[in-house]
Amino acid sequence: MQTLYAGTRDLSPASFARLAKYITEELGIKMPDSKLPMVQSRLLRRVRELGLDSLEEYGEYFFASAHDQEREQFINAITTNKTDFFREPGHFAFLTGVALPLLARAAGRPAWRLKAWCAGCSSGEEPYTLAMVLNEYALHRPGFDFAVLGTDISTRVLEQARSGIYPESHIAPVPAGLRRKYLWRSRNSSETLVRIVPDLRRKVTFDHLNFMDQDYRIKDIFDIVFFRNVMIYFDRPTQQAVVRKICRNLAAGGYLFVGHSESLAGLDVPVKQVQAAILRKGL
Ligand SMILES: C[S@@+](CC[C@H](N)C(=O)[O-])C[C@H]1O[C@@H](n2cnc3c(N)ncnc32)[C@H](O)[C@@H]1O
Repeated sequence: MQTLYAGTRDLSPASFARLAKYITEELGIKMPDSKLPMVQSRLLRRVRELGLDSLEEYGEYFFASAHDQEREQFINAITTNKTDFFREPGHFAFLTGVALPLLARAAGRPAWRLKAWCAGCSSGEEPYTLAMVLNEYALHRPGFDFAVLGTDISTRVLEQARSGIYPESHIAPVPAGLRRKYLWRSRNSSETLVRIVPDLRRKVTFDHLNFMDQDYRIKDIFDIVFFRNVMIYFDRPTQQAVVRKICRNLAAGGYLFVGHSESLAGLDVPVKQVQAAILRKGL
């Protein structure tokens, strides 16, 4: 009986505190005691994969062994990667109805190239949604072109994002007309999968980035940045520091989209709210 349940033994308060401190310092993610059950359930898989006996042993393994080796797996396990195609759809309506016409007018000529960054892109549904919307806009505007960059700290979600392959159940929010154009269907032995078509995949690149890094080493300046449902996990000083760093790569007049449950009110950042969860950098 004991061996059967050994893998589920709780972390001691000291081990949880040490792991929580590590998560906050390395990833910026707040880890109050209420997150203990979540951390435990997410790390159990690693306990099993490593053949360890308990979560407590995992904590010891993580810090005692060269934890740099385990760091990537740990981050992949601990991050919350919930996302969706066309999540918070009002943002995409604003983009085509308001932001793109204004950015096009500012560009001053039909031939211009928009750059967009999905900062904290998870498994790619958000950058591919953006690419579908921008491609639809491009169809009626000869000369307009675009590129989308997606970045995340989790190598697991980045791998999925690069493949552009999703279970069919994920595409419910994609309008039927766009599904026919931008998604290919295939079957593996157990389920129907869809894949983003190559022409759209070519418009989107993915890279690894930790928002806690001092220098993001991104050379591009973006007209649009989606930074949605990420800073909700950070405390206020971290939110301010990260948004300021992100804004270094936002063009003057460019738009920053944040999640609807996130607010920059009271933070010293170089963007002003133009609508709920939509901000713009001064010209
Ligand atoms: C909840 S998902 C949001 C995905 C997408 N933006 C959306 O709104 O659907 C948050 C993402 O932020 C990433 N993330 C968390 N902390 C990060 C950090 N310090 N640096 C970079 N990415 C981070 C996670 O790996 C996760 O994929």
